[in-house]
Amino acid sequence: MDHSHMPSSALLEVGKSGICRPMQPPSQNIEHFPQRDPYRFCRFLCDLEDLVETVSDDCDRIRIAALLVQRLLAQAHWIMPSCPEPEPNKGLAIQRLYREPGYPFTIKLVSWLPGIKSPVHNHAAWSIVAIIGDATCGHERNQFWHRQDDGRQPDYAQLQPAEQHTLKPGNILGLMPDAIHSVEQLSAPHSQKPTYTFNVYGKADLKRRYIFDPATNRLKNH
Ligand SMILES: [Fe+2]
Repeated sequence: MDHSHMPSSALLEVGKSGICRPMQPPSQNIEHFPQRDPYRFCRFLCDLEDLVETVSDDCDRIRIAALLVQRLLAQAHWIMPSCPEPEPNKGLAIQRLYREPGYPFTIKLVSWLPGIKSPVHNHAAWSIVAIIGDATCGHERNQFWHRQDDGRQPDYAQLQPAEQHTLKPGNILGLMPDAIHSVEQLSAPHSQKPTYTFNVYGKADLKRRYIFDPATNRLKNH
């Protein structure tokens, strides 16, 4: 079902079911992370590390992290100009914003040309994907999938398409570690600008990170 016609909520969340919902408020108090002005990137990085240390529930982690990403993007006007332009031969470009041995996140800017599609995959980590830029910048159509088997059979996964949702600049999506999606980059009407994304990935469980082929029910690590 394509929910793109529904009023768009800025914050969305998706998990194993493949149902994409407006993000609920976290059950834990976010006052541990006071608003700062300016909200510097170094502060954001420390807040994320504190979040992992103080909040154990993945759902709450995603909801709090999405609010922190929203705060950062509202203030950090240097981020959008830092986005790389997609390489014409690859159709995308990746700019790593932060990675440090032992630090529990990887933070990247990824830019995509319209028309680029990803395989069906999970992240095996909780993740935040924010679509950035103005109304002329590209969108990202997400197809979410629901895994129907119990995962016990090696190299086998039976997937059913679940919901579709097109993310636009201003949307922030939180993905639970077991969420499965495939994406297609789309241009905004009357524009050919790339899709620009700000991404936060938690520490992945690499043994459970897969690319799926729903046509053959095969999967492989990535
Ligand atoms: Fe993804």
